[in-house]
Amino acid sequence: MIRIEKEFHPEDAHIGGRSPATCHWKCGDACAQPVLNQSENPYVRSVIEEALTRRSFMAASLGGLFMLSGLVRAKSAGSLGFKPISLSTEDRVLVPEGYTTNVVIRWGDPIGRGARRFDVNNWDVRSQENAFGYNVDYISWLPLPGYASGNSRRAILWANHEYTNPELMFPGYKPGSPSKEQVDIELAAHGGTAVEVRRNADGSIYYLPVSVYNRRITATTPMELSGPAAGHPLLQTKADPTGRRVLGMLNNCAGGTTPWGTILTAEENFNQYFAGNNALPEGPIKRSHTRYGLPEGNSGRRWELFYDRFDLTKEPNEPFRHGWIVEIDPYDPTSTPKKRTALGRFKHEGAETTVAPNGQVVVYMGDDERFDYLYKFVSKGRFNPADRKANMNLLDEGTLYVAKFNSDGTGVWLPLVQGNGPLTAANGFASQADVLINTRLAADLLGATKMDRPEDVERNPVTGAVYAVMTNNSRRTAAQVDAVNPRADNRHGHIVEILENGNDPTATTFRWALFLVCGEPSDPSTYFAGFPKDKVSPVSCPDNITFDQAGNMWIATDGQDGTFRKNDAVYAVPTQGPERGYVRQFMSAPVGAEICGPIFTLDNKNFFAGIQHPGEGGTLEKPVSSWPDGTNVPRPSVVAVRKLDGGVIGS
Ligand code: FEO
Ligand code: CA
Ligand code: CA
Repeated sequence: MIRIEKEFHPEDAHIGGRSPATCHWKCGDACAQPVLNQSENPYVRSVIEEALTRRSFMAASLGGLFMLSGLVRAKSAGSLGFKPISLSTEDRVLVPEGYTTNVVIRWGDPIGRGARRFDVNNWDVRSQENAFGYNVDYISWLPLPGYASGNSRRAILWANHEYTNPELMFPGYKPGSPSKEQVDIELAAHGGTAVEVRRNADGSIYYLPVSVYNRRITATTPMELSGPAAGHPLLQTKADPTGRRVLGMLNNCAGGTTPWGTILTAEENFNQYFAGNNALPEGPIKRSHTRYGLPEGNSGRRWELFYDRFDLTKEPNEPFRHGWIVEIDPYDPTSTPKKRTALGRFKHEGAETTVAPNGQVVVYMGDDERFDYLYKFVSKGRFNPADRKANMNLLDEGTLYVAKFNSDGTGVWLPLVQGNGPLTAANGFASQADVLINTRLAADLLGATKMDRPEDVERNPVTGAVYAVMTNNSRRTAAQVDAVNPRADNRHGHIVEILENGNDPTATTFRWALFLVCGEPSDPSTYFAGFPKDKVSPVSCPDNITFDQAGNMWIATDGQDGTFRKNDAVYAVPTQGPERGYVRQFMSAPVGAEICGPIFTLDNKNFFAGIQHPGEGGTLEKPVSSWPDGTNVPRPSVVAVRKLDGGVIGS
């Protein structure tokens, strides 16, 4: 018997920075569940002061190394010219003086001939399959006519659609008892969109409703499982006895773009879509599903009412086919998306790539769960800039590592390789496929460091330093504080700076330091890379980051409505030079929204952001936002920012 797990009521109490609606639909109320990582991995004992003292030593040694390797460009001191804006509760997108924005595309805008004109009262599955999907997360700019062209005027814009808010999509939605039509529209509103875009003479960006590149990927698009775990018995289901063909991708949060111009899109909170873990017999399958947080009873969206694959009592293996990094070639609209099992299975936040000096490709990844881990993948083969096709399966073979941080500012990447230490058949890991399918369990055994919800991990293209964003963790107790997660009840999050040994991303050892410890600057536990606190903007719950061509970090937040009682925002901060740590607010979201997918065109004259879940906390009947159209239907959208004088953003 499946019991009712939890129905959604906006007034329910919740824990953490977000609104109850975000907790429910985005992560399946992850904040309210018990901590999933019950491993006894040690905490790195230290205190924040110790880490902060080390900071000046690290700055000197990092700077020294960059100078030696010639990585710092003389002009890239990283100063920024805009006047910061303030936190806001206004229901609109705010940018600094001298900047303006335009909405590029919004939920329901047609990208194919099959969609009718958007009308929330008259919408159907076929229309949704041919229209922009719901909550925008990762965004990428893929220049046309080819990736190598670097074009900043014409491109394929990619956007992830992480999840749906049925209470903001369907008039009179009844939580717990959706219709099949509503469920099918939700399936079609998940996934991602590729759409051709162009830049107008005034610098604004518009999309083409009809283009050969326009494509929707949904939660039912056929995909291939590739790499070491493909075909494994745990990946086989009644519908797919081969274990190689899966329908769709779920909860695609952030991602990355490869040097060969494909999209990596990250299945994050996939667990919440599956019902009935309590009904499974005790054993390895249930143990794994429990470590990944699958619902004990009903799922929140109740897709299991209409589709057996979401009901564990009928199909216990379907969740093993989700939680992967999916690679998509947007330049070939007929291509089959591939789930790259070599990159491990967890609640993938994103997957940012970099190329090592020897040509190996390195992918940095976070597992966004309280007390979960930071990973990287190093390809066996090498990137070939002269032959795109030769790179297409680079991510099927290589080594996956998990990070262990030491309290002395050093760290090590532990290989998740079958046979390494405890990763043996006796412990449930008889093959590399077993390690990859149960990545979390393997990392538990290796003693990886438990982090405060790792989100984006990205390498600074100017300096080579790697930045790992910890969004928050209000469950960390004083007894669990360590050097790299230095705060108990960490509501505001922090950003860790990692320097790989020799500045080589394939290295297996690194040094690290705290870059930012977020919050209201007057809070003594905050730290802004040593920059005077009275000058910086308050920032909380950092989530996605990107870098401009000068190496400045741009940070989008998720949760300031819960921590500051203000709207989420975008910030810019230099990572080097005299203004290192000088955090300045650049953007503010409408009511209820988080900002996702920060990305620049190559010339840095446009900046894009996803406005995700505007109006969350309300319903269509009781709206709290009218963004972007001034109507009662808030619509998740991609926004393009430009400077009024046509200059480089941030200059
Ligand atoms: Fe979907 Fe980790 O945010
Ligand atoms: Ca995120
Ligand atoms: Ca990013």
